[in-house]
Amino acid sequence: MRKPFVAGNWKMHGSKAMIAELLTGLTAGWKQADSVDVAVCPPAIYIDYVRRTLGSAPIAVGAQNMSDQPAYGAFTGEISAPMLKEFDCRYVILGHSERRALYGEDDDFIARKVEVALDAKLTPILCVGETLEEREAGITERVIERQLQAVIDRVGGEAFGDIVIAYEPVWAIGTGKTATPEQAQAVHAFIRERIAMLSADAAERMIIQYGGSVKPNNAEALFSQPDIDGGLIGGASLKAEDFLAICNAAAKVKG
Ligand code: PGA
Repeated sequence: MRKPFVAGNWKMHGSKAMIAELLTGLTAGWKQADSVDVAVCPPAIYIDYVRRTLGSAPIAVGAQNMSDQPAYGAFTGEISAPMLKEFDCRYVILGHSERRALYGEDDDFIARKVEVALDAKLTPILCVGETLEEREAGITERVIERQLQAVIDRVGGEAFGDIVIAYEPVWAIGTGKTATPEQAQAVHAFIRERIAMLSADAAERMIIQYGGSVKPNNAEALFSQPDIDGGLIGGASLKAEDFLAICNAAAKVKG
């Protein structure tokens, strides 16, 4: 049985005051750590503050991005995997569609980062997903396959047992439009089958989150699908009440 995993992607939101309030709500309200893994991914500058504020609460911390360079060096503005580890990050989101679209990150660049994260024992949350045009052109699976293949070429199939995948249809991110549970399940099953061709064991262990306008009112239906193991939550992760409701929905249907 896979333990469901819900992560909050705060994107470029937050202030010390806002974070203090959010974490007070989350630490007071989160009671189901035995059945669901939960993480928050703040902007990098707040990682240490979040980690210290969380104390011993059963909520992990992740980063939203990371350098493709494995260690230290002349890479102005970058943050390396060992730096994230030093501040107790467990996860790192890689290949988010905003980084692909706005910052020109391509499949191979993202695959390199996945390898660097794995080498540093950080768990990558690898985001994949198609645009609206790609879905309408009927090439969703081809796009996902290409995004996965770049990572497979670098780290092989077995490594996917230590990778979290977030299927995030680009047209559903921040738009209020969610994939239907059936649409999402179809892509999740495709992803798991693709990895199973290389390693049945990794495919069985691999967590596949759904992301894209997950809200308290649609989380349960999405998480009820057999291959949806949790969610990567943007907007709704900024309100303690909403994020807790989503985490509790995962515990209810999968716990
Ligand atoms: P959203 O974002 O929940 O606001 O749609 C999800 C994401 O981008 O990870």
